Amino acid sequence: MTHYHVRWMIRRDMTEILQIEAQSFANPWDEEEFVKILRQRNCIGMVAEHDSRVVGFVIYELHKFHIEFLNLAVAADMRGRGVGRALIGRLIGKLSLQGNRRTMLRCRISEYNDAAIRWLSRRGLRAKGIDRQFLTDDGTSCDAIRMEYRLDDREADRVIESIVSADGKAIHVRREEREE
Ligand SMILES: CC(C)(COP(=O)(O)OP(=O)(O)OC[C@H]1O[C@@H](n2cnc3c(N)ncnc32)[C@H](O)[C@@H]1OP(=O)(O)O)[C@@H](O)C(=O)NCCC(=O)NCCS
Repeated sequence: MTHYHVRWMIRRDMTEILQIEAQSFANPWDEEEFVKILRQRNCIGMVAEHDSRVVGFVIYELHKFHIEFLNLAVAADMRGRGVGRALIGRLIGKLSLQGNRRTMLRCRISEYNDAAIRWLSRRGLRAKGIDRQFLTDDGTSCDAIRMEYRLDDREADRVIESIVSADGKAIHVRREEREE
């Protein structure tokens, strides 16, 4: 399987990112929109590279208990080759039951983007609800599907039990914290 180098986005990547964005959405973000969003303190951009070329990107927000991605796209001629999987895999890899305690990955996706909804389902994200009047990429409003990936609960219990000493009370406290 091809390995894609995933790294932080830098200003120089913007031309390639805008091209990918234009290939991916009917009403793509412009440079101003990217810059505005990336200026927010909790917002981060990453790109996937192949042969020194930017072939995909993701923009996401870090929240206290979850990560939410706002935009994810792959160059049209590179789709179906694992680039998107590498990007979303990197986000899932940032989730943790220990340390930062961000245990959930979320996104909202237009109800009309069937291909992406199917693709996200295969990546382990589950539809959790509907947000009404979500603004689509073509400027009209529609409903959005809220999709989430949560670290497996049984895995959570196993990890929590292994990191907390064999003190039943302590384990109980940790479980309550996780459910906040
Ligand atoms: C959705 C998108 C990001 C996926 O990225 P990608 O690099 O093409 O996907 P990958 O090659 O990593 O995915 C591999 C998997 O998806 C499947 N796949 C490949 N091309 C696909 C396609 N066009 N539609 C749906 N699934 C596809 C593969 O069979 C493979 O499945 P498996 O892991 O179960 O074997 C990309 O198609 C894209 O940029 N779409 C337009 C923008 C968009 O809709 N963004 C919203 C994303 S949430």
